[in-house]
Amino acid sequence: MKLPERGTSQEEVLERMRERKAADADWEGGRTWSLVYPAGEEVDEMLRAANELYLFENALNPFRFPSLRTMEDEVCAMTANLLHAPDSFGGAMTSGGTESILMAVKAARDRAVAEKGIENPQALVPYSAHPAFAKACKYLGLEHVQIPLDDDRRADVSAAAKLIGDRTALVVGSAPNYPFGVIDPIPELAALAAERGINFHTDACLGGFLLPFLEDLGEDIPPFDFRVPGVMTISADVHKYGYCTKGASVITHREKAQLHEYQLFVYDAWPGGMYGSFAMAGARPAAPIAAAWSIMNFLGREGYQKLARVIRETTDTLRSGIEAIPELSIWADPVMGVFSFGSEKIDIMAVCDVMDERGWHLDRQTGPDALHMMVSPGHAKVVDAFLADLRRAALHHGTSKGAEARYS
Ligand SMILES: Cc1ncc(COP(=O)(O)O)c(C=O)c1O
Repeated sequence: MKLPERGTSQEEVLERMRERKAADADWEGGRTWSLVYPAGEEVDEMLRAANELYLFENALNPFRFPSLRTMEDEVCAMTANLLHAPDSFGGAMTSGGTESILMAVKAARDRAVAEKGIENPQALVPYSAHPAFAKACKYLGLEHVQIPLDDDRRADVSAAAKLIGDRTALVVGSAPNYPFGVIDPIPELAALAAERGINFHTDACLGGFLLPFLEDLGEDIPPFDFRVPGVMTISADVHKYGYCTKGASVITHREKAQLHEYQLFVYDAWPGGMYGSFAMAGARPAAPIAAAWSIMNFLGREGYQKLARVIRETTDTLRSGIEAIPELSIWADPVMGVFSFGSEKIDIMAVCDVMDERGWHLDRQTGPDALHMMVSPGHAKVVDAFLADLRRAALHHGTSKGAEARYS
């Protein structure tokens, strides 16, 4: 395909885009269970306005756009506070969970090399942790060592204790993990790392902006944040349960000195002047910073608590609805609105085929086979319809792929 010789009118360009977009997932109707975290029209309106206001700026140079610098500092400070960081904390915004994790792995590696002289560093990462850790290890030259899971599908601490060694530069736990929605035994894993003077990272990309509010509502949340000794860095995504548009995550360090020593990149050996950056990107869009700041202020603690309550109620309805279907089981005991379910009796992938045909988009996972759900406030309105379709799919169509023909 070649760049068109002549331009096209705005009206026609938009029309063509709308046509293509019609085939995309219907997240606004609550039919998808991942990727977008719908939280209602008021939230969307705030995000549209904030994005619009900062569409063209560049967050590379904070001195040119001091408003962006202030907003980024405030997003980091509010996040650190939610995660109970001490006053010594340091934080930076990145483009998403993967970039925050890359920076956490880099900081841990550089600390281990500088302070302990570790050569050929390793990272100990639960089998259920997000692939971003494997990616970071591959990019940054660490060996990626997987910690097996226990019967609750949490990282097995005794296995981790056997795996940790002189080359370990980082230990990781998730709060919660993506596949099963359970929180790893963070205090025990962090203690293993702290005893050896190496970093422990909590991946709270999913939980960072939801677990604190479930705790506010009186729920018993297993320890995962900076209240746990030894937790040195935490990733928390504003663009997941913080409800921000995409491109916003925060990496928080317990010690600001480590952020500066092991994460910051500074360079002046070229003719272009001093260049500094806290993460992978050079030029950075301003809109995600503005959107993150706007939504955190727009919702406030009270707004997030309200949305957390909706997620809790919606998840409870879904869980009991799924558990009432004799063919289906929820794997593990999920802590928030992220979980997966499968079956020991029927072919869960065939159930998914039928659900796909009914317009529900669930992510498929293996090990064990399961369908994955991430509940957002926007799903409250579709729970009953979803469960009705799931019941019929499990009852009539769970046994074979060809069974759709029997669907009435
Ligand atoms: C637990 C967890 N960590 C990290 C990530 C990576 O986040 P991103 O897709 O924003 O890079 C995800 C994404 O779903 C996740 O679920």
